[in-house]
Amino acid sequence: MSTISLKNTKYSYGLIAIIFHWIVALAFIGNYVIIYYQHWFVTPKTDLAKSLFSFHTAIGVSVLVFVVLRIIWKFMNPQPKDVPGTNMEHLAAHGAHILLYIVMIVIPLTGYLGTGGPSQLFFLFEIPKFADTQIFQTVVQGWMNLTWEQFEAPMDFIHKQGGAYFVWVLIAVHAGAALYHHFIRKDIVLKRMLYPITPPKD
Ligand code: HEM
Ligand code: HEM
Repeated sequence: MSTISLKNTKYSYGLIAIIFHWIVALAFIGNYVIIYYQHWFVTPKTDLAKSLFSFHTAIGVSVLVFVVLRIIWKFMNPQPKDVPGTNMEHLAAHGAHILLYIVMIVIPLTGYLGTGGPSQLFFLFEIPKFADTQIFQTVVQGWMNLTWEQFEAPMDFIHKQGGAYFVWVLIAVHAGAALYHHFIRKDIVLKRMLYPITPPKD
């Protein structure tokens, strides 16, 4: 009798890595939908606009926690082997994955660091705005000698410009590559991120 593998193997992602991937992917893309829906379709300063914004921050901060857990889990697991392809293709795939990990940390983090209001974690606990924390006073005001305005501007810039011009393109290329592997190359790349698969018996 075969059991579903929780851990990765050399051949496939395991159930835990798969759940992490899709929770983060859904939350990330969902957070785009929420903030642009608010920007494009909702009258500013209404209750709906404010609720959508607190959804955005709460989901975003929760993503950060999932990503940290996900990275810890990644280091505790073997990594599935590359499917056959050229060196350039393997380099592009690994490069894109590293960039995605950086983005998954930097985007929510700069969102939190640059926000002038409190946020929630998993919609359960209120976390104070960064400007009210001891870290802000010690590190930003003390060591870096910056005011809130001086600190907030670059955080906002990375979050908004990065989000608006870079991150979604990276995600689109990544998702496109997965579909290309599945429908054109007809290999296991997408399947092994949908459910844990076992190597065929020869
Ligand atoms: C999954 C994580 C996140 C993603 C993908 C994301 C993405 C975005 C995008 C695309 C925008 C709109 C940029 C524009 O103005 O064109 C935005 C705006 C914003 N985000 Fe995030 N964000 C995330 C997490 C967070 C977090 C954790 C916070 C704060 C705790 C935050 C605070 C903000 C703020 C204050 C704005 C500006 C809102 C406005 O101008 O109305 N974001 N975000
Ligand atoms: C509909 C959208 C998406 C699809 C179809 C998709 C598909 C996939 C597939 C098939 C893999 C496995 C690649 C391999 O085995 O070499 C993968 C890995 C990965 N994906 Fe996605 N993905 C999507 C969205 C996202 C999003 C939104 C993010 C992050 C913001 C993301 C981050 C990653 C990362 C970091 C990996 C590497 C995992 C690792 O090896 O640790 N993906 N994705």
